[in-house]
Amino acid sequence: MSPSAIVPEATFTVTPMSKSAKEKHNFGATVTDLDLNDISDVDVRHLSDAIWTHKVIVVKAQKDLAPIKQWELVTRFDPSSPQVHSHGDLKTFNSKGGLLSKSREVVGIPGAENVRLIGKGFQGEDHYGVKNMTITKPLSHDWHYKELPQEEFEAGNVRFQRWHMDAPLYGRDPAWFTTLRCLKRPTEPQVNIRWDDDSGLSMKTEPGLTAFISNVQMYEMMTEDEKKMADHSWVEYAPHPYMWIGDCKGNSNGLGLVSQGKEKKLEDLGDFDPKDVKTYPMVWVNPVTGEKAFQVHGICARKLFLRSSLGEEPRVVDDVVEIRKLLKIIQERVLKPEYILVPALDEGDIVMWANYQMFHTAIDYPGSYGPRTMHQANIASSTGPVGPNPIPSAA
Ligand SMILES: [Fe+2]
Repeated sequence: MSPSAIVPEATFTVTPMSKSAKEKHNFGATVTDLDLNDISDVDVRHLSDAIWTHKVIVVKAQKDLAPIKQWELVTRFDPSSPQVHSHGDLKTFNSKGGLLSKSREVVGIPGAENVRLIGKGFQGEDHYGVKNMTITKPLSHDWHYKELPQEEFEAGNVRFQRWHMDAPLYGRDPAWFTTLRCLKRPTEPQVNIRWDDDSGLSMKTEPGLTAFISNVQMYEMMTEDEKKMADHSWVEYAPHPYMWIGDCKGNSNGLGLVSQGKEKKLEDLGDFDPKDVKTYPMVWVNPVTGEKAFQVHGICARKLFLRSSLGEEPRVVDDVVEIRKLLKIIQERVLKPEYILVPALDEGDIVMWANYQMFHTAIDYPGSYGPRTMHQANIASSTGPVGPNPIPSAA
């Protein structure tokens, strides 16, 4: 019996996203003919494979999706994981989220608390039971060290906020996937995203969207020596990492931190359990395609353990200035317009991405363009990332 006779085919359609001759990103697909209010276990499996394979998918036309069904889908992707958002319950997130929860309260949808309301401006008189809420939060580039003048921003000049994966990097393992449903967003005028570094780069997109880069492509761009090093090395993240960097500022292109010595001392982070501190390989292997991603969340990295073969004693780098310099060389290569995908979302579309293979970032826009409403959900995974080589158990 052939495998296809055992596992039924997907009932939905997956179409790789088209790109212009100038674009060099190699990920992204659109999913049609699927109703997530009523999806079979077989299709959940196929959808999961589609996310791992295409890295970013946009599931079209889910306008009538019940919020609880988005959460159920997330749990069905990883049925043996603990049934909690990867950043924990709202109370913990709002008190321990540091940089992530600063100056904003994160709201769950009533009856589906793990589905988080994300957006900007007035959310309507009654949004699934959230009454008359206006989301006000600092502009996302306020986090950058180099100021973006207000009048330039109001004229539509914006920046990538912070390239990242969705990962608590303490306690729980990061979600395999994140799901983000677009309920409302402005579609015009376009914003002009500026790098505002020495590169002079910029690109234009519709407002209210999320940008992606592939850390698989980043890995492919590395030299053979760099790959050998990355394949055998690992990273130790700070305890409560977002509190640790709560006073730090970011680079204007959204990638990495400016080193000002503002990381908190470990004794100022409150209680932490050493066994919850995360140590992950530098390279994460895609369980479906076998591809390798250079997956280092640089802003939270406190120590690198570098070696280029299994038997070698690792060189420990615990100076954040050196850590950031080393990562910047590798990670900035892919931070060019031709490698960045900003998938357009119609109201009702859900974007889902392979969080273990990608970096993504928000892109702010002037409030005068109109309100934005998104529903985000992911789940701490049942098994964490797997590298090409094991980390020695004494590490
Ligand atoms: Fe995110």
